[in-house]
Amino acid sequence: MSARPLATRRGWAHLVLTGAHGQDTALARPDVIATWLDTLRRAGFEGVRTGAVGPGVAADLTAAGFTAVQDLVLLSCDLTTGPRAGADPRIDRIRTRWARQETDIEEVLGIDAASFGPDWALDRVAFDEACAATQRSRLMACRDVDGTAAGFVLAGATAGSGFVQRLAVIPDRRRGGTATRLLAQAHRWLAGSGCSTSVVNTETSNEAALGLYQRFGYAPLPYGLRVLERPLGDR
Ligand SMILES: CC(C)(COP(=O)(O)OP(=O)(O)OC[C@H]1O[C@@H](n2cnc3c(N)ncnc32)[C@H](O)[C@@H]1OP(=O)(O)O)[C@@H](O)C(=O)NCCC(=O)NCCS
Repeated sequence: MSARPLATRRGWAHLVLTGAHGQDTALARPDVIATWLDTLRRAGFEGVRTGAVGPGVAADLTAAGFTAVQDLVLLSCDLTTGPRAGADPRIDRIRTRWARQETDIEEVLGIDAASFGPDWALDRVAFDEACAATQRSRLMACRDVDGTAAGFVLAGATAGSGFVQRLAVIPDRRRGGTATRLLAQAHRWLAGSGCSTSVVNTETSNEAALGLYQRFGYAPLPYGLRVLERPLGDR
């Protein structure tokens, strides 16, 4: 467990729980959780929000006074079947060592904020954590002829398992096939990186994303994830 300031809410902490995505993963004894909360209080935080956690961890946190603020469905698709997309010249594959990486990332974080809103947008630290969550990761942007990015996808691969970590298209460019192009290229990269499956999560109420993923053959896993939070004023 580690914690850092939550960029989207002043005075709150973001609780980073590594490996908390599993269906049966349990967290820690209630007294240990109480110690974490005390530590955060003493550090001056007024509240705490988790990242996405599996049902076992969510149950432990609920017992410790946390409330779910986001319900996510986990979806998986097989990358070994079906046609693989060819290279798409509109998709810019951004390597971390490229000199213009910083401007690319700023542009992408702007799209992210416009898409997910101020309370759920990725800040730079969270973006770096998402990149580091898998052994390999690749950021791809879909560019207009003038070079402006209309959308992006962040894909990650670990030991044959692929993940679509983040996907967004600027609001006034939606329903034009941008996400379809991005996801096809993410799958191309994941399959080329040796992944046989791809997993993504999205809010249970996100009809647009669910429609998109369904078209690519994603199906729900038997369990979902939750983001939880808790004010720290009470004990
Ligand atoms: C989800 C999102 C990425 C889709 O981007 P997009 O470029 O508009 O998607 P596409 O144009 O490629 O649409 C492909 C298909 O997805 C589905 N879809 C997309 N938007 C939809 C909507 N608003 N309602 C229902 N289905 C939708 C449709 O099946 C669509 O095919 P169609 O247009 O032929 O009907 C975009 O709405 C977005 O950025 N949303 C906010 C961020 C987000 O939710 N990201 C994904 C969650 S992790």
